Amino acid sequence: MITFDTKRRLFHLYNANFSYYFYINKLNYLIHLYSGKYLQNVDIERLTERYAERYAYLDNNKEVCDESYYFSLQGANFECATFNTADKRGSFAIIKNVDSSLLTDFRYVSHKIIQGKEPIKYLPHAKIQNCKEVETLEITLKDVRSEVYLILYYSIFNNLNILIRNSKIINKEKQDITLLKLASTELDLIYGDYELISTYGTWSKDRQLEVSKISHSKQIISDNHGGRGFYHNPAIIIKEKDTNLFNGNAYGFELIYSGNFSFEVSADEFNQTRVIAGINEENFSFTLRYNQCFNSPECVLAFSDKGINGVTNVLHDFIRQYILPKTFAFKERPILINSWEAYYFDFDTEKIIKLIDEANSLGIEMVVLDDGWFGNRDSDSSSLGDWQINKDKIDLEKVITYAHEKNMKFGLWVEPEMISPNSKLFSEHPEFALYKRNIKPTLFRHQLVLDLTNPKVVDYIYSEIKEIFKKYPIDYCKWDFNRYLSEIGSLYVGENNEGEIYHRFILGTYDLLNRFITDFPNVLLETCASGGGRFDLGMLYYSSQIWASDETDPTARVDIQYSTNIFYPLSCIGAHVSARPFLTYQDKAIIAAFGTFGYELDPIKLSEEDKNQIIGINKLIKEWHHVVTEGDYYALKSPVNSNYAAWMTVSKNKKEALVFHFNFRREPTYSRYIKLYGLDPDLYYFNSLTNTIIKGDFYMNVGLNISAPLDEGKAMLFVLKAVNSLEKTIYEKIKMKNNEKRDKIF
Ligand code: DGJ
Repeated sequence: MITFDTKRRLFHLYNANFSYYFYINKLNYLIHLYSGKYLQNVDIERLTERYAERYAYLDNNKEVCDESYYFSLQGANFECATFNTADKRGSFAIIKNVDSSLLTDFRYVSHKIIQGKEPIKYLPHAKIQNCKEVETLEITLKDVRSEVYLILYYSIFNNLNILIRNSKIINKEKQDITLLKLASTELDLIYGDYELISTYGTWSKDRQLEVSKISHSKQIISDNHGGRGFYHNPAIIIKEKDTNLFNGNAYGFELIYSGNFSFEVSADEFNQTRVIAGINEENFSFTLRYNQCFNSPECVLAFSDKGINGVTNVLHDFIRQYILPKTFAFKERPILINSWEAYYFDFDTEKIIKLIDEANSLGIEMVVLDDGWFGNRDSDSSSLGDWQINKDKIDLEKVITYAHEKNMKFGLWVEPEMISPNSKLFSEHPEFALYKRNIKPTLFRHQLVLDLTNPKVVDYIYSEIKEIFKKYPIDYCKWDFNRYLSEIGSLYVGENNEGEIYHRFILGTYDLLNRFITDFPNVLLETCASGGGRFDLGMLYYSSQIWASDETDPTARVDIQYSTNIFYPLSCIGAHVSARPFLTYQDKAIIAAFGTFGYELDPIKLSEEDKNQIIGINKLIKEWHHVVTEGDYYALKSPVNSNYAAWMTVSKNKKEALVFHFNFRREPTYSRYIKLYGLDPDLYYFNSLTNTIIKGDFYMNVGLNISAPLDEGKAMLFVLKAVNSLEKTIYEKIKMKNNEKRDKIF
């Protein structure tokens, strides 16, 4: 999977469908040559000769120029661009050296190729169990002016078009240096005609899709909230202009990181494209003493020549196999009901017992007690940090035992990274809060963030949380995070090292999460940040699912889910049906069915008709949801600028498929056919909604016929199941007898 041609000093990282080439040039720079569909060889000359300039430099006051060597820093494609040299298009690393200079210029020293991949310490990473699946190239570079080393890691997978990169800085200077920037990955492409797919949003409008031309000015997709950053998500796709959902080249990038990040994307003056991704350099600086090192988080690069869906398929498979906790990655999650939208803070033991009874009778499998069970927490204005059960309000033991007796699971909400100024913890340990002293720090939702840069705080808060989960047999945990970091200051880190706080904070969070999943591997963990404010691969390393959004309006959910689905497997996207009056429960459930399914409502308030609908839905979910959890996903029609949206999932053996269609505004009969993907063209599929048996190639070449008058806010779910020839014959006979009667699935 990784070869090195010693004569040409050429690296080739590849699998059957993907090639990534770069070489070491005469000046010991790593020059990127090609990344894309598998190529047996590359011609270095033809890929680099466009640089018309000869390389010249000053040595002992004399110009030195090799007439035969054409190279220009200004326009070359690098693996790790320099800083403060003649290349002005964005840098990979910036180091303030012992002499305070900022010139950063790393050149090749040596390399090694290893089987498998070493996990990065303290940071979430791809979990490799079988070394044979991955090979890693480790390249050591040295700064031209100092004893500072940069190690670049490249891990290529044999079964997926995935290349993971990360980097490490090692200080071998006898004095301190300051790291001001360290990227995880860089991709310099020879074309300048790409489009960028990213998402932006705010609270309750999580991850809205945006497609823009990569222009000749820098676009920065970034976050600087230190967590709960809705503005951008650390996942993008770069695609060729003509690439669509199904065809063409596209590159997906996802950072395995939950802190401040940035993707710098631009087309340069020569019309080439540069992508640099990693920790956001804003508010970042890290002091490294002699022999200390700093690791950047991993960045995943996924390539496909089969369009956006191709990249999505690669990412989904990768995340399920190598990121999500093994215990739950491919497991059906229980259908849950959460107390939040039903009762907010206003509940007691009796109400929760009733909730369990009602939920049980509807076929719901788990009850989750959300915010409000601890301290004096009857509103959001107090008690974060006081993780003691409010016994006047809830008898936790009783409700958990009751749920278990009914064969149901029980889940509990926590928000461990926070502290309310109005809490026992704050009155005893004000130093535990993370904010700049001598100013008036902004409160959000009446709360502050805990100083998780301080190991003592991590120890304290973990012991409190552990106590609860050790004492009670809790099956699921919702781990919330409801404010972002601002006016940061840490008594532990100190004023001089403020630039380290954002990164150290997320390391503290990872430490907490790591302790939790180590002690409670069988507790299903769902992270959340006021909805999907911290939706990334860093969190998914620990938690099997993330609450996608506090917006439970079903039509808004179609947009949110469509864009989230592009980057993350459906099995980790928390999607619930709420009591919002718009749409029937059936319609709402069809949308939520394409995520980890659950409810946010008070079942006691449901009419008999709604209850019956919900019982039917839950049966259907239990029967078919594995296609969502394990299958391949294809976006069929984007909701952006469209009156409808469609997508589908297909089981890996292609025998089962679920197709989703949603109509936004009322429309009379239009000709609407939706071509399906991923089916077996030779198999016949029974369609339970239309009560028909149709061959896969028809669906894939002609399409699924949805030409009918369509109501506003109408959701449709088509369940397709492959039938054998005997089943087909029996069906045809019954159909003739029944005179083409159509049974609806619900
Ligand atoms: C924000 C979450 O997104 C909600 O689902 C709920 O858990 C509240 N926090 C509780 O405070």
